[in-house]
Amino acid sequence: MAGKSRWSYLKLPDHFTIRPGGIEDLAAVYQLNQQAFDSCWSLQSLYSALESGYDLIICEVDEELAGYLLSMTILDETQIMQVAVAKPFLRQGVAEAISRHLIASSSGIAVILLEVRLSNRAARGLYSKLGFRESGLRKNYYAPDASGFSEDALLMELKLH
Ligand SMILES: CC(C)(COP(=O)(O)OP(=O)(O)OC[C@H]1O[C@@H](n2cnc3c(N)ncnc32)[C@H](O)[C@@H]1OP(=O)(O)O)[C@@H](O)C(=O)NCCC(=O)NCCS
Repeated sequence: MAGKSRWSYLKLPDHFTIRPGGIEDLAAVYQLNQQAFDSCWSLQSLYSALESGYDLIICEVDEELAGYLLSMTILDETQIMQVAVAKPFLRQGVAEAISRHLIASSSGIAVILLEVRLSNRAARGLYSKLGFRESGLRKNYYAPDASGFSEDALLMELKLH
């Protein structure tokens, strides 16, 4: 496929490929989005996001989607919107590799920002490992669950220069 490149220095085995994603990837991204998140984006929202300039990074194995990262850049700030990895590929360095790909391609970006659920141990571990620092808290940020509980969001940032 055109535009494919290998990022062996990111520790992933050779058959894992990281590349920019596009509209043609959205059906698979939507499926993974549904599996990975309690409240997922609609296919239309994902489509609109790409149409309006969001960036998608894909990791695939034999053309199967292993993980993706969706981000939005305004001026010199990038916001990570979503990172998700499919169950068969968890704990193999996929999220770390995609995130490092984003960071490595962020020339001219001053800071990468994100919000993460306080309870999301895996994601917080990932971002801490990448060097993100906690920068604030948004109280009751997420939509209430069935019991009416709204979880707080932890704000994290990685300053690049
Ligand atoms: C969070 C998520 C993307 C991590 O993906 P992954 O590919 O399994 O993560 P990696 O293998 O790259 O792990 C990198 C680091 O993240 C941390 N980490 C990942 N999974 C973890 C877990 N279950 N528990 C604790 N730490 C974890 C570790 O620090 C790990 O480094 P290590 O392997 O040296 O210990 C994945 O669990 C996922 O898709 N979760 C559901 C969606 C989500 O919550 N996304 C993030 C919010 S947008």
